[in-house]
Amino acid sequence: MIAAANWKMHKTLREAAAWVEEVASSVPKGVTAIVFPPHTAIHAVREAVGSRPLQVGGQNVFYEEAGAFTGEISPGMLKDLGCTHVLVGHSERRETFGETDRDVAAKLRAVLATELTPVLCVGDSLEDFERGDSSGAIRRQLGVAVKGLTGDQMLRLVIAYEPVWAIGTGRAATAIEAMSASKILRDGLLHLYGAEVAETIPLLYGGSVTPENVRGYLGLAGMDGVLVGSASLDARTFVSLMQEAAREEATAP
Ligand code: PGA
Repeated sequence: MIAAANWKMHKTLREAAAWVEEVASSVPKGVTAIVFPPHTAIHAVREAVGSRPLQVGGQNVFYEEAGAFTGEISPGMLKDLGCTHVLVGHSERRETFGETDRDVAAKLRAVLATELTPVLCVGDSLEDFERGDSSGAIRRQLGVAVKGLTGDQMLRLVIAYEPVWAIGTGRAATAIEAMSASKILRDGLLHLYGAEVAETIPLLYGGSVTPENVRGYLGLAGMDGVLVGSASLDARTFVSLMQEAAREEATAP
């Protein structure tokens, strides 16, 4: 199972290195740990990790490889820094920075042109949720993002379901809500790409995940891991979250 830490716009180099020292040697068996530092700390985090089992990813990327794009960085640059993963279409990129579904689709293609693993983020807004249209929003975002990708490309994706109303709000989705989203995503993938893709792509849940609620998203809810913001900032909290997740994995039927 995957435990991913999205630091967002947090941590100086010194804070980043201290976190790595506590976390990189404490990744439990059965957990794939990935940290998404701000771009400024990726190199330092990668160096501090050394050969320990903690992968490093970018929080965002642009869809061109090089050129006059002030302030942007390319998939190749992330690869060069030693990243293995990159978040694509996080709701904060969509909402605060105006990323459209088409931008997300372009980024996904650019990332797939490198060896990086894209973590495609989709999720319903509070408005979608209150209107009872969560499934429509999830299906639309998924459909536009993956349109035209081959089955082989799809098999390289990780998809994170992050309801916008649950991100940073403390109002986490219930295990039942997460289960329903995993079913919507897997049904959508089955319809578009068939059984192998639908069953193989790892699905993550994100939105106010804590050590206390993490186990509910694994097991029955049909998620293969979690994407964690706030509760990933403190190293000890993140380690205990990983330990809880590993316990759930160990007791899974
Ligand atoms: P949160 O953020 O855990 O603070 O809700 C999750 C995310 O945005 O990836």
